[in-house]
Amino acid sequence: MALKSLQDLFVEELKDLYSAEKQLVKALPEMAKAASAPELRAAFEEHLVVTRGQVVRLDQVFEELGIVRKAKKCRAMAGLIEEGEELMKEDMRPAILDAALIVAAQKVEHYEIAGYGSARTFARLLGATRAAELLQLTLDEEGEADKKLTGLACALVNLQASEESTNGEDKPKKRAPRRKAPARAAGGSPRRSPPQAAAEAARPRQRNGAAGER
Ligand SMILES: [Fe+2]
Repeated sequence: MALKSLQDLFVEELKDLYSAEKQLVKALPEMAKAASAPELRAAFEEHLVVTRGQVVRLDQVFEELGIVRKAKKCRAMAGLIEEGEELMKEDMRPAILDAALIVAAQKVEHYEIAGYGSARTFARLLGATRAAELLQLTLDEEGEADKKLTGLACALVNLQASEESTNGEDKPKKRAPRRKAPARAAGGSPRRSPPQAAAEAARPRQRNGAAGER
């Protein structure tokens, strides 16, 4: 379809978002099932309910604009979901899988934020005030979901990863007897900051190649 006007581009974007939301309604239950932290699972389940509402809201936008409700397959969302599915098949410790699920979910949120932000602006420019209001509501929800995921990543996943490391095989086998520390040069010992410690804890065990390959 030739996109000859801003109205055409607006409708095209709405169809893309409609497809993206419908794909997410199918993918979120799988993500919730794969999450091990109850708070993360609850966040995915809650966002599923929100996402279903967003599909209904898009129905309202189509109705408001007097155009036929139709999805056009969002290949970007399909790709993001596919990447998430590949992650879920990886052999990972639960806390690391949770961290990976949060990354996948935030990529989805950022895609949606870009799409809804543009669609909302197009609606305003075209004088479709009610449609702009509806799209803004969803845009706000996506922003909230993104913030919540950031909060979970900081508070939950890093802590879990750190605990697993302390309780697991990364734990030092036996502490060497303490010796009197030699005099240190000015500047003192290089203490690890909490973020560094969490990053080290989150480092995957060595297996099948380099960690940065994915
Ligand atoms: Fe959404």
